[in-house]
Amino acid sequence: MDLYEYQARDLFEKYEVPVLAGIIADTPEEAKAAAEKIGGVVVVKAQVKTGGRGKAGGVKVAKTADEAFEAAQAILGLDIKGHVVKRVMVAAGAQIEKEFYFSVLLDRSNRSYLSLCSVEGGMEIEELAVERPEALAKIEVNPLTGIDSAKALEIAKAGGFDDELAPKVADVFVKLYDVYKGEGATLVEVNPLILDASGNIIALDGKVTLDDNASEVRHPEHEELEDKDAADPLEAKAKASGLNYVKLDGQVGIIGNGAGLVMSTLDVVAYAGENHGGVKPANFLDIGGGASATVMAAGLDVILGDAQVKSVFVNVFGGITSCVAVAEGIVKALEILGDAASKPLVVRLDGNQVDEGRAILAAANNPLVTLAAGMDEGADKAAELANA
Ligand SMILES: Nc1ncnc2c1ncn2[C@@H]1O[C@H](COP(=O)(O)OP(=O)(O)OP(=O)(O)O)[C@@H](O)[C@H]1O
Ligand SMILES: [Mg+2]
Repeated sequence: MDLYEYQARDLFEKYEVPVLAGIIADTPEEAKAAAEKIGGVVVVKAQVKTGGRGKAGGVKVAKTADEAFEAAQAILGLDIKGHVVKRVMVAAGAQIEKEFYFSVLLDRSNRSYLSLCSVEGGMEIEELAVERPEALAKIEVNPLTGIDSAKALEIAKAGGFDDELAPKVADVFVKLYDVYKGEGATLVEVNPLILDASGNIIALDGKVTLDDNASEVRHPEHEELEDKDAADPLEAKAKASGLNYVKLDGQVGIIGNGAGLVMSTLDVVAYAGENHGGVKPANFLDIGGGASATVMAAGLDVILGDAQVKSVFVNVFGGITSCVAVAEGIVKALEILGDAASKPLVVRLDGNQVDEGRAILAAANNPLVTLAAGMDEGADKAAELANA
């Protein structure tokens, strides 16, 4: 999960990373009140989960509370790379002397952590990496030992900090690593980290990505950070039922067991769709092993709730779960859903007890259900029905 800047700021504060006062506001009036509370020059900043806010007009300096009102008015509702701004943060204004860059992230390809650091921060780091790669230090961080004072100093020196500044920023790097480790993050990035006119090092911006797998087990409190409004309502519903569901943009709902089978089902349906008006898969949904009637009903309920869906392809390979259980699950699920189930279903079963499973579906004789002998045939039929 990516965090908003203000959430990253709050986490930083918890770990004693130096940050400035920041108050969130959802209206220009709230922004004005926040500016009065902070006092002096403030910066009004769009809270969106994308980069380049400054360039898009999403970061504005306000010298008075009235200017903060106007800045918030201009920023709220702004579309930044497809993200509409619903909230701003009013932050205390800093007197910037220098801007630096620091990040620590999970380096999957090297099965390690990586820290990036440069004394030349502020600009987009992707640009720096291309234009002056020598100015951006890339230092591997051993996950077992992390970033202690010595490692932080090594990173600062590699990033081009002089002997005076290096120990100062190194202190902050250690704390930022504490955030990374303590919260189970896969990214902690500060751009810019600044030196202000009084000689303080301050994190002026923060990007944090939390590892959802760590959050689930170790940090139940992270649930509060989730942006419930922004989440797709169908995905939220699926998550509540413990389903592995990703909404896509097509018309053919997909249910399968096992991530690999579901992925290949998406491919086969997309391919079949080329012959049927270009219909595409509407979702990824893996019901896993043990496809019970309740899981099947929950899955069908989510998929049928998608107005874009015109047909559903259920593609199950019976392994440990027999096709009998799956077929009974489908029959019961359709009973549970009643009138809510109104779209055609193509079912392909194979594997353990396939004949018995098919017999159960044939006997139920539900007019919505079509049995397919194979995966290609099922995909073709589902695509055809979606295009009808
Ligand atoms: N509190 C502040 N006081 C003074 N200047 C600020 C403050 N916050 C940001 N700035 C200035 O605005 C610039 C852009 O701010 P920030 O880094 O937060 O946004 P951004 O880089 O445009 O967005 P993103 O990091 O999402 O790409 C900073 O580099 C800094 O010069
Ligand atoms: Mg920035």
